[in-house]
Amino acid sequence: MDVLAPAKINLTLRVLGKRPDGYHTLESVMQMLSLADRLTIETGGVGIQFSCSDPTLETEENLVVRAARLLEPHCAIPRGAQIHLEKRIPMQAGLGGGSSDAAATLLALNELWEIRLTPDDLAALAAQLGSDVPFFLAGPTAVVQGRGESITPAFHAMTVHVVIAKPATGLSTPAVYGALSAPTITIDYTPHIQVETNTMLQALAHENLDAVANALVNDLEGPALNLMPALFRVRERMLEEGCLNVLLCGSGSAVFGICPDAHTAERAAAILTNDVPWTWAGSWLHYR
Ligand code: C5P
Repeated sequence: MDVLAPAKINLTLRVLGKRPDGYHTLESVMQMLSLADRLTIETGGVGIQFSCSDPTLETEENLVVRAARLLEPHCAIPRGAQIHLEKRIPMQAGLGGGSSDAAATLLALNELWEIRLTPDDLAALAAQLGSDVPFFLAGPTAVVQGRGESITPAFHAMTVHVVIAKPATGLSTPAVYGALSAPTITIDYTPHIQVETNTMLQALAHENLDAVANALVNDLEGPALNLMPALFRVRERMLEEGCLNVLLCGSGSAVFGICPDAHTAERAAAILTNDVPWTWAGSWLHYR
């Protein structure tokens, strides 16, 4: 079985506060992209065999292996799997590649091993693997709240073209969160829908590209720019190449620009490769 594990961007990301367990309470409108890793999964044999186009990722800690191991005890009869991961989403970019690989593995093995876990059961396992993983079981667009476990799908019919650029150096998610000063809140704090979330949902519902571009916000951008001032220049270059607006992807270090059309995105990606090692042009996903 071949499955695609799409990347994501955060159209909005508000950090509402720091929880006693060290995680942050968030509210984010997340959007999947046509950029995707590819997983090839065959069942049979004994145990989990994992290979990857990037051999440095062939470890027991890889979220693909951890996802498979979480599902194993739910198999009535032990069944093996051979999983190959073709990596296309850069790491330490804020594009959710590892989380998406984990979600795709959970969905695929739940089917192939005929485990029949319910969506709620899968979501509980996903949350154990990482804060972004539950979103990737749903998508392609959703409002994500809490630590990342509360997912409300948001439907829209926009085809939006984006360009993404990632500098050679990545950013560590804990380091970026660590550089943010957020108020302490209790774990049972209930977030109310943020103004920024509503503004983005309205822009999407009205299919208004300028309004979408204007509504982009990411509370992690300030700390990320402090940690990596070179990102200022990447932002500036994207605006010069015709992007309507530019924002950090998740906790970085990739940056995305909303483009008026596919041509602008492709041209920007081609020109930006002179300054940054990894660029990509593509569009948002509507559905899986
Ligand atoms: O859940 P995950 O392991 O993907 O999170 C990686 C890091 O991101 C955490 O160690 C934490 O520093 C930060 N994080 C956070 N609050 C969230 C999600 C992630 O502080 N809601």
